[in-house]
Amino acid sequence: MIQPVDMTGDAGRAARLRDELTDTLLSNGQIVSPAVEKAFRTVPREAFVPGDTPLDVVYSVDRAVVTETDEHGGHLSSVSAAYIQARMIEMADIRPGMTVLEIGSGGCNAALLAEVVGADGHVVSIDIDGEIIDRAGVLLNRAGYGGRVSVVQADAEHPVPGFVLFDRTLVTVGAWDIPPAWLDQLAVGGVLVVPLRMNGITRTIAFRRDGDHLVSSDVEVAGFVPMQGQGAHVERTFLLPDRHGKHLRLQFDSGVPETMHLLDGVLATGPVSVWSGVTIGHGISFADLHLWFAAFLSGFCRITADPDTALAAEMGKTWFPFGGVRGDSLAYLAVRPAMDGAGVEFGATAYGVHGQDAAAALVEQIRAWDRNGRHRVPTFGFWTVGSTVPQLPDHAAVLEKHHGAVSISWSPTS
Ligand SMILES: C[S@@+](CC[C@H](N)C(=O)[O-])C[C@H]1O[C@@H](n2cnc3c(N)ncnc32)[C@H](O)[C@@H]1O
Repeated sequence: MIQPVDMTGDAGRAARLRDELTDTLLSNGQIVSPAVEKAFRTVPREAFVPGDTPLDVVYSVDRAVVTETDEHGGHLSSVSAAYIQARMIEMADIRPGMTVLEIGSGGCNAALLAEVVGADGHVVSIDIDGEIIDRAGVLLNRAGYGGRVSVVQADAEHPVPGFVLFDRTLVTVGAWDIPPAWLDQLAVGGVLVVPLRMNGITRTIAFRRDGDHLVSSDVEVAGFVPMQGQGAHVERTFLLPDRHGKHLRLQFDSGVPETMHLLDGVLATGPVSVWSGVTIGHGISFADLHLWFAAFLSGFCRITADPDTALAAEMGKTWFPFGGVRGDSLAYLAVRPAMDGAGVEFGATAYGVHGQDAAAALVEQIRAWDRNGRHRVPTFGFWTVGSTVPQLPDHAAVLEKHHGAVSISWSPTS
């Protein structure tokens, strides 16, 4: 349903909030170029969200506005948060006159892109969902961007019909793989910016082509609604019952251990905790520790517990419930106050007959990250099927995809 947008009474406030948002994105370093700054000062975000969305949400730095949900409440479409729109446009290094493909539509980001490519450029915005495309088309027209943006209903898995090459491609939906169409339609010297899921952990990565493979030039932490259509990737979920009939839910992106049946009754034994001696100050991000686990911890999975269980209370203290299955046992990342009171210490809490070993394996990876990962920005590569992944340096991992392989490296020489 196309929602009417009331831009009357609040127009002045919207203009003020637009400038404040742009100022914040500039001071955060999320906007760095004058063209992107001008785009953010120009595009009326309120024109692309449901009419009842409060303006302070519309102009928040980090809040997405959900525009469509599925029957279970899962998010299917949203206007992305301003900071990630800004970062992705900057990461793509877009210049006036370029032709840009936006995968995943809505109107707002396409309008920003249209401002950046200018009158001599063009934006093609595709979406698998006909309703989203119709809505984006109407809203873009109404906001004056109709002639500068083509909206096309298409599944991004395939080449965009009617177009040959794009200078830049921005994928604004969570991808598990890089289908051949994205590379086939990328001009020489082109940039692909894509939120790529790697063993359950997503990084938005700017890739440039380097011969037969892609190399990353920039990376950002951000999540997106999942890809639908032919490129959709379904996680596998396992439920472990506790003795009260409540459950622990393990979600695997890929690489499900063959020994999952050994986890029957695992919650009856334990818990046991092992501590790493590795600490982190309050308020400091350790998102890359999860990426390190995704790359190197065997049996890596996301873990959630039914609400109101002792397990949920216990896991709530860990902030981010990731862990690993090791044979008949299961360990997850745990934290406790650091001895010096200045932050927290990482460790592992485990269940199962060999819980001590499972916890020790997780702690070993915490220490490895501390030594070799935490002070480096990871780099990424993508090798298409048929190309050869070279021998990678230390502290690098390769994850197989359907259309190729992704490398993640913390090596200083990568
Ligand atoms: C986060 S929204 C896009 C936000 C938008 N770029 C904006 O202006 O902020 C993601 C969109 O991707 C679309 N999508 C999901 N799978 C797709 C696919 N296979 N091909 C094209 N679009 C897809 C969804 O329908 C959804 O509308």
